[in-house]
This record gives sequence, C-alpha cells and structure tokens, in this order.
Amino acid sequence: MPDIRIPFNKASPAGQELAYIAEAVASGHIAGDGSFTRKCRELLEAQLSVPKALITTSCTHALEMSALLIECQPGDEVIFPSFTFVSTVNAFVLRGVRPVFADVRLDTLNLDETQIENLITPFTKAIVPVHYAGVACEMDAILEIASRHGLPVIEDNAHGLFGRYKGRYLGTLGCLATQSFHETKNFTSGEGGALLINDPRYIERAEIIREKGTNRSRFLRGQVDKYTWVDVGSSYLPSDILAAFLYAQLESRQQIQGKRRWLWENYNQHLQDWAGENGVRLPVIPGHCEQTYHMFYMLMPSLDVRQDFIAFLKTRGIQSVFHYLPLHLSDMGQRFGGKPGDCPVTEDISDRLVRLPFYNSLSSSDLEDVIGAVVEYRLERGTA
Ligand SMILES: Cc1ncc(COP(=O)(O)O)c(C=O)c1O
Repeated sequence: MPDIRIPFNKASPAGQELAYIAEAVASGHIAGDGSFTRKCRELLEAQLSVPKALITTSCTHALEMSALLIECQPGDEVIFPSFTFVSTVNAFVLRGVRPVFADVRLDTLNLDETQIENLITPFTKAIVPVHYAGVACEMDAILEIASRHGLPVIEDNAHGLFGRYKGRYLGTLGCLATQSFHETKNFTSGEGGALLINDPRYIERAEIIREKGTNRSRFLRGQVDKYTWVDVGSSYLPSDILAAFLYAQLESRQQIQGKRRWLWENYNQHLQDWAGENGVRLPVIPGHCEQTYHMFYMLMPSLDVRQDFIAFLKTRGIQSVFHYLPLHLSDMGQRFGGKPGDCPVTEDISDRLVRLPFYNSLSSSDLEDVIGAVVEYRLERGTA
C-alpha cells in the first residue's frame, strides 16, 4: 500500500500566525481575553453585525454555554438533526436534556424543517439546526415554527462562518450561534470556537458563564471594582496565543475563501460527467444559499461502492473520508430510544457519503491528481 501523499485535511497557516504569536508573547499577556482575542471578537462583530461574539475554546464549549444560557434542565427535550457531530447534542445532554432526532433533507443534508412541528411537545426547549457543509438550513421555516411555539433557535454553525441565507449571514439568524475553529475548519486555531449572541438578553450572563461564573468581564471594563462568583460557569476562554493564530486566519478570510471556492468549483466542474455516468451525486446548493466552501462531499450509490472507492483512492496515495454516523443509532442515541428506520435519509446518506481532500494549501497539481484518480474509478471495478 503506498503512503498517503494527499491527506484529507492539513492545517494551513495563512502567513502572519507566528508573527502574531510572537507579538502576544512579547506583550507579556498570553492568558485569555488579551489583545488578539479582542481583535478576533471585533472582527466577527463588525463583519457579521452581531451584538456580541465571544471567542471560546471550541464549538463544543460554545454549545455547552448555549445549553446553560437557555437554562436546559433534566426532562427538557431539544430537537436536533441525527446527521451531525456528537457535540451538537452532547452539550445539551450534559444538562439532562433528552435529544429528539429529526431526519435531514436529501438535497442539502440539513435538518428537514417539515419534520420539526411533529416532534414538538410540551417539554421541547429549543431547536438546533446545523448548516451542513456551510449550506444554510431552511431558516425561514425553522424560525417561523420556533416563533409560533416560543422556542429559541441555536444555530450550530461550525461549518458556516461567512455563509449566507437569502443574503443574511449564517450565525445571525438564531438567538445564539456557535462557530468552530478546529483544524478541519476554513479558519482555525487548532482548537477553538465562538459563541455569537444575537439576542442581547444573553450577553451579560454569557460573559459570566465563560469566565468561571464570575463577573470578571465587567471588572475588566471598570464597571465593578472587584470581581466575584455570581453564577454557574466554567473556563471557556482560549489563551491569547491561540487567538493570535486565529486572528491571522480571520484577517486572511478573503484569500482563504477565494482559494476554497476555487478548489470546490474545480471539483464540481471536473467531476460532473463522471458523477452522471456512475450514479454519484454531487452537492446541491440551493440558489438562495451562499455556501462557505467548507467541504466537497459526494454521495456514492451504496455503502459497498463508497468503501471500495475510499480503498481505491488510498492505493493512489489519496485520503478520502466518510462523515457523521447517525446519532440516533449510536450507543448513546439508542439509550435515548433511537432505532433503525427512525431517520431513513440520515441512515442512507451516512453510508454513502465520502469527502475528498480539501484544505487551504491544497496545490493545483494535487487537486488535479485527486480529480484524475476519481475519474479513473468506475463502478465496475474491473474497469478502474
Ligand atoms: C456540526 C459540528 N458541530 C460541532 C462540532 C464541534 O466543534 P469543535 O471541535 O470546535 O468543538 C463539529 C466538529 O467538527 C461539527 O462538525
């Protein structure tokens, strides 16, 4: 077996990361909420026009903060897509929530908004849509249902920073939204995240929860003369060293997004004919969604073909990967009553989905190699 020559993901510095880290170190302030954390926060607030952006240690932690902010209690139910990452759900389960899983739409693989209403009960506390691959959920419908039932919507926007729905930025539509700056995301600090707060009622308590349950943020702004323990909380703020890395990435957002768009469009254009001939489905991007070029996925005709395809690319030194396993069928999901057939679209696409190498420093020759290897693959393996 040849070694992997083209990995699925590679953290790719944009240029200024090490210089900014050196600046943070030289400043003598490398704990949380230093000057680079402030710069990242201000950049997000200005670009997205959100009332508050809090930089966090991860998207998982921003989700945990959300569950605390909406005061989830044991016995509450929250509606999630089954096709998502564990943290979307786990952050709420930690507070005693019973997850209620909805299926996804076959086109965008996003929460199927037509299922939500049937899943709402007197115990429902919130709805958490996930903008898969940075393509928006049908937010008008989701927000309308939520408002009719008086429920908060928390957008898990881990993939969707700077994407738009009908012209509006993802992450600005729910009362809260969470971002990820994990190594696999468009903009990274290795591990990292942000909580976007659109409903100003949550701002003060979010600052407290992020700062170990203290009013330290108010103290730092000179609003109180000492800080103390005022609420529950934890330590959800990253070191300014990580924020320095992140700021270099966010500052280069146009260049990064331009490169990712170019990669995505190349895959999409050069794989069209091959996909049509081989029963492979390429991503669907509705006209009213501006995607973030977060990933390039394909739906293969079956699980067997998907596994064979991954193995084939591996023989060419190319790594391709599947994605989420249906959460309702995981060990934990089954403990909450999940069973086969509950979310048929999720169960089907999870078996068939494969993601191609996609990262900011993927070279044009490596991209050509991946495309070349993919189009060599034929369903009848004899011809591959
Ligand atoms: C949809 C979604 N939500 C949340 C997360 C968790 O992000 P983090 O690793 O920043 O905690 C991920 C991770 O990839 C994700 O895909």
